[in-house]
Amino acid sequence: MVPAEKHGRTAAVVSKWDYAPAPEAKDIVKIQDRYGLFIGGKFVEPLSKQHYTTIDPAHEEPLAEVAQAGKADVAKAVRAAREAYATTWSKLRPSERAKYLYRIARILQERAREFAVLESRNGGKPIRESRDVDLPLAAAHFFYYAGWADKLEYAFPNRKPRPIGVAGQIIPWNFPMLMLAWKIAPALAAGNTVVLKPAETTPLTALLFCDVLRQAELPPGVVNIVTGDGRTGAEIVAHPDVNKIAFTGSTEVGKAIQRALAGTGKRLTLELGGKAANVVFDDAPLDQAVEGIVNGIYFNQGHVCCAGSRLFVQESIYDAIISKLKRRMSTLRVGDPLDKNTDVGAINSKMQLDKITSLVQSGIDEGAEIYQPPCKLPERGYWFVPTVFTNVAQSYRIAQEEIFGPVLSVLTFRTPDEAVEKANNTPYGLSAGVWTEKGSRILAMAQRLKAGVVWANTYNRFDPTSPFGGYKESGFGREGGLHGLEPYLAFDE
Ligand code: NAI
Ligand code: MG
Repeated sequence: MVPAEKHGRTAAVVSKWDYAPAPEAKDIVKIQDRYGLFIGGKFVEPLSKQHYTTIDPAHEEPLAEVAQAGKADVAKAVRAAREAYATTWSKLRPSERAKYLYRIARILQERAREFAVLESRNGGKPIRESRDVDLPLAAAHFFYYAGWADKLEYAFPNRKPRPIGVAGQIIPWNFPMLMLAWKIAPALAAGNTVVLKPAETTPLTALLFCDVLRQAELPPGVVNIVTGDGRTGAEIVAHPDVNKIAFTGSTEVGKAIQRALAGTGKRLTLELGGKAANVVFDDAPLDQAVEGIVNGIYFNQGHVCCAGSRLFVQESIYDAIISKLKRRMSTLRVGDPLDKNTDVGAINSKMQLDKITSLVQSGIDEGAEIYQPPCKLPERGYWFVPTVFTNVAQSYRIAQEEIFGPVLSVLTFRTPDEAVEKANNTPYGLSAGVWTEKGSRILAMAQRLKAGVVWANTYNRFDPTSPFGGYKESGFGREGGLHGLEPYLAFDE
């Protein structure tokens, strides 16, 4: 290293140390060139005869050809699910159903590394997150619901719970395996069979999961996986022999599904977007709060429905928080998702990158002040530098609309009343965060914030025993916990 003095500067820091690359091995997981649809316990060619290419968003390189299921394919999957429901799954002793769920959970744990690598390659998320968050939580959901499968009578005493039939499940690309687990585990535990569609940009872990089902010897047709884009999803929604739709994704599509199902008698749960308020009071432990703010918005590139995308800071600590936040942001490592040191990976798709870019431009145009730490991005792939906006008015699009990217909007407040009013000033109501030392204030805020989940002195924490879901345009119905079983059960009351 050249001493700084030679350039005529007086350097305070002359030592430089950096992380050596620590890439996870790619060859632990084998990706096929081409995949069919998983229907009736085996892979079949799509009747539509259509495939599309799924890519690695960090390198813009093709990974595999994946089927685009059409109407006839969806019908075939629903038939398989109906038959398995009528002949096998609904007839099994509940403790037998539990046995399969336990097996799936254990195999997922055993093969977690394989799944984590594939999740990061197909979706762009850092391996540290897919390894430490997505996969352990996915397995935990199967373990948790396995435990309920033979105890439904105790979970819902005197209500005679029974399964409802075939569930159509449509999931997004931000947590592919975790959303699959959230959907499939409670449905199966309750005795239903499933047709699930992963998102078009992230189908590969759901297809690998079919191999787990084979290993677990799950009876054919209990779980069917059909790949494809929104058109495939719409076919599942429209199919007359599906008893329930569970959807996680955009509010726009959620509304369209609700319109399509009105009057059909089909059950529906919707887990949609969010614009969560993360509220920091002046008595909060500031360094801990800054960690929570960073985790709240930069975790998974901000592709998180419950991301803490609106930060509300009490005015008296505003300068301290902003300077600590900027310092912390400068240490975030953006880059190769498979590197174990990476904090922020690739944006999931070109479409999502364009959306983030245009919303960030709107923030600049409307007059907010942008800060991005110095950061060298890889040349290929879809990337966005962690961004924070200050001087944000509540009316700006960046304070109102879900960006679903690593972009934080900072606003301020003086009193708890003002914090509540501003935090609730959104069409969404999925989650919120409160940072304060005062327990009574936490409880008071949790009462008044219109959000399905309120975290206190932490953020983005998940546990299968804890229900999750929204208010208002964030949707309805709960996933996780006992609440998450209810949408998959009918009751003789
Ligand atoms: P999307 O809502 O279009 O996609 C989610 C899932 O729904 C995918 O599997 C997709 O194939 C399917 N789908 C799309 N159109 C459908 C239709 N008409 N009927 C049935 N299924 C359909 O979300 P997209 O376009 O990927 O992202 C757009 C925005 O939505 C994001 O920028 C983000 O703001 C939000 N979003 C929110 C998520 C959440 O977790 N709440 C997840 C994904 C996106
Ligand atoms: Mg869409």
